[in-house]
Parts: sequence; C-alpha cells; structure tokens
Amino acid sequence: MFHVVDTTIFDRPLLDDLCELTTLVRTVAKSPEGARQLQQLASTKRAMLYFTQPSTRTFLSMNNACHVLGIRTSEIRNASVSSEVKGETFEDSIRTFSSYVDLIVMRTPDSGYAARAAALMGSIPRPVPIVNAGSGKDQHPTQALLDIYTLERSFEDSGGIDGKIIGMMGDLKRGRTVRSLSRLMRHYEGVRVVFIAPDKFEMEPDIKAFMAEHGIPFVETGRLHETLPTLDAIYVTRIQFEHDVDNESSGVNLAPFTIGTHELGLLKKTAVIMHPLPRGPEIAVAVDQDPRAMYWRQERNGMWMRVALIAKIFDLDQEIRELASHIS
Ligand code: NCD
Repeated sequence: MFHVVDTTIFDRPLLDDLCELTTLVRTVAKSPEGARQLQQLASTKRAMLYFTQPSTRTFLSMNNACHVLGIRTSEIRNASVSSEVKGETFEDSIRTFSSYVDLIVMRTPDSGYAARAAALMGSIPRPVPIVNAGSGKDQHPTQALLDIYTLERSFEDSGGIDGKIIGMMGDLKRGRTVRSLSRLMRHYEGVRVVFIAPDKFEMEPDIKAFMAEHGIPFVETGRLHETLPTLDAIYVTRIQFEHDVDNESSGVNLAPFTIGTHELGLLKKTAVIMHPLPRGPEIAVAVDQDPRAMYWRQERNGMWMRVALIAKIFDLDQEIRELASHIS
C-alpha cells in the first residue's frame, strides 16, 4: 500500500486485514509498555498534515495516530499561511512538503487534489505516500474505513456486515462519507442499502450507477419511520450547507430526517446508530444515552483505524502482529 486517494485500493482481504490490525493495535496500546513499543515503530518518520478545510476529528485522529507510532507531525491548516498566497502552485507546494516528510495527509475543500498530489509523486525523485483525509464533496476513504471497522465490531456476534441492511440518511448528495462508504459495500455479501434523503439531497447518479454495476441492492426513500424497523444500522449525516451555492439547504424540512427518542422506539434492539460527526440537529443529544448510539465509539475507532492504516503504509503490520502475539 502506498497512496490512499480513494476507496478503489481496498478489497475484502485488505479490509479484513486492516480491521484485524486495528484491534491488535488497540490491544497492544492498552499497556504502557505496549504503547511505548508502538512509539518505537516509526519514530524516525515525519508526517505533514495539510488541511485547508476545517476538521476536528480527522485532523486530531490522524495527528494522534501518527504519535501512537512515534511519527512526528507538522501541519498547515490554512492555505493563507502557506506560500500558495505568494502564487506557488499546488503541485510546487506538495513537492515542497514531500522534501521534508515521509507522509502527507491532506484535506481540501474541492475534490481531485489528493489525486493530483499522488500523480505528482509519480514524477519526482522522492515520492511520499499521500493519504486523502477528505476531498471536497467526493471522497473520504479513511472515514469509510473506520465506519467499516465500527460496523464489523458492532455486528461481531451476528456475522459482521455481510447480510445486513444499512440505512444512510441525510445529505447524501454532498456528503463524501456516505459516498465512500457506499462504494465499499460492494465487498460485503448480501448487504442491502437504503438511502433516506430529502429529494433535493438524494444520492448522486454516479454512486447509484456504481452500486448497480457491482450488484449492491439499494432502494431510495423519503420515509424514515417506515424504514427504521427494517434496518440493522442507520448512518446519519448532517446537511453540508457549506457546499450551498444558492442557499439550497435553507428551504429543506429536515424534521422527517432526524433521530430522536421517538425514533429509537422504531429501531431494532440490535441496530446501531452511526454518524461521522459533527452532528447538527439530525440526532438529538438524548440519543447519546442509548446503547445503540455508536458515534462516539466510532470517532474513537477512527484514531485506531488510522494507526493501522499508517502502519500498513510503512509496512509495520508484521511488527504489530509480533507485539500483539506476546500479549495473552
Ligand atoms: C465528515 C467530513 O468531513 O466529511 N467529518 C469527518 O471527517 N468526521 C462529515 C461532515 O463534515 O459532515
């Protein structure tokens, strides 16, 4: 594994492997001794976090995931403090970062930039891996990984993701998390997807075509209450108002697309509620108390999954397995 630009690099064996590695890393990190050993694994490496779009969880979990492995990090979180304001091109900036570090993790407001950075690496003498931490409205592959891990763990006693009915709700049109997660559903047997969205924000045709092409059954509905009792998981997302060009979000009635205490009564006892966060009004705070609310655990899983991913990029997975094998 080198660049992680989109979800196409993942197949089922790799997804299973990363989930297993995530659990192993967590196990090793539990003891102070294990945590110290993990920090030795990549202590000569440096990473650059280049985030020119707001981020809390992805930034912090990537940064801390690097630290878990002993990787030192530097950051640019605003293009206005980089030489891009002096007219430096995107490619020259990325090439500069690559001169100083061994890994570039990047998030941009527009799509396509992580792919451009990865393409540039193909033409320079010291290429470093590029990890896409969110590219515009299009992709968020590392979020999809932590979502897969959270789903797999939630369904640990019932055969994992295979055979489950997964609902995805909210702004499916402009939400990159659901777009990346939908793509990964092709690797699971017998999964059915239900897209629940207001008309204005229904899933884009490219994802629906992808699902049809890969034989992932899906239906679209605006009726949450009828759908809820059938679901094994509901993945809720917020309205991506920052992508409005003509104030589209303001006229939409979101009330039918929210989870509150009433909706909890309609959901299976074994179902899980997920959300990439940050949340808006689409999940009531009261829902946090319900054992099916998985989003805070999901957020924490994100750090461990990112440790596993970075370990895989730097070929450290055998060492981690070795460390884990000493723990009984
Ligand atoms: C998501 C994102 O940035 O796409 N957040 C995250 O990374 N956890 C979801 C969102 O902002 O709605």
